[in-house]
Amino acid sequence: MKKITIAIDGFSSSGKSSMARQLAATIGYAYIDSGAMYRAVALYCLENDIITGDGIIDTERLEKCLPQINIGFEVNPVSGRSEVTLNGVNVENCIRTLEISNVVSRVAAVPAVRHAMVAIQQQLGIKKGIVMDGRDIGTTVFPDAEMKIYVNADAQVRAERRYKELLEKGQSVEFDEVLKNVKERDYIDMTREESPLRKAPDAILLDNSHMTPEEQNEALLQIFKRITNA
Ligand code: DC
Repeated sequence: MKKITIAIDGFSSSGKSSMARQLAATIGYAYIDSGAMYRAVALYCLENDIITGDGIIDTERLEKCLPQINIGFEVNPVSGRSEVTLNGVNVENCIRTLEISNVVSRVAAVPAVRHAMVAIQQQLGIKKGIVMDGRDIGTTVFPDAEMKIYVNADAQVRAERRYKELLEKGQSVEFDEVLKNVKERDYIDMTREESPLRKAPDAILLDNSHMTPEEQNEALLQIFKRITNA
């Protein structure tokens, strides 16, 4: 069967990564989490004092350093998942913290960072057969994607999911802090000048506030089957 490109965009903590990964595994496509790439750049910025914990960025230095920030993916031999690398080092476990979440939207709003990441993402998807999730996949990265999904859920519901996830990872966080971060990232992602989070006109809206993960996965699979006549 001819392979297609699948773009899944949406708000932070909307569960889009889990459903995108699951869909890719079910249909035998590659999965790329584009948010992980921006998180890895944010990690580089924190490690190299390009951004302060309060989110003040030295944009000029960041632009100068960009050629030395190599972002890639490698497959974890145990889980079979693709994991993000920063200059050849697997940083998958270091990028899912609240510290990174607090600054990543600001790093992702820098046009030069976006241009560099979009170029890598387009290269990764050149052969199709890919599910990529993010904020601008259906609008900027793959505007011609055959299947586009726009995921949303209440901010409160999304914060509860992210809070649970962080607690399960043993991170000590306050719920209010997580909710504040979710709302702040929504605002920055939607109002930035370069490729803001928007529903592509041809994207299918999926509000999963009241859906179980199984229901979401099934809904996505049905859309895929309909689009590919499978
Ligand atoms: O999906 P996530 O929460 O891991 O993404 C982290 C941040 O990266 C998010 O705040 C916005 C940004 N992002 C983006 O601007 N464009 C993308 N395609 C993916 C993520």
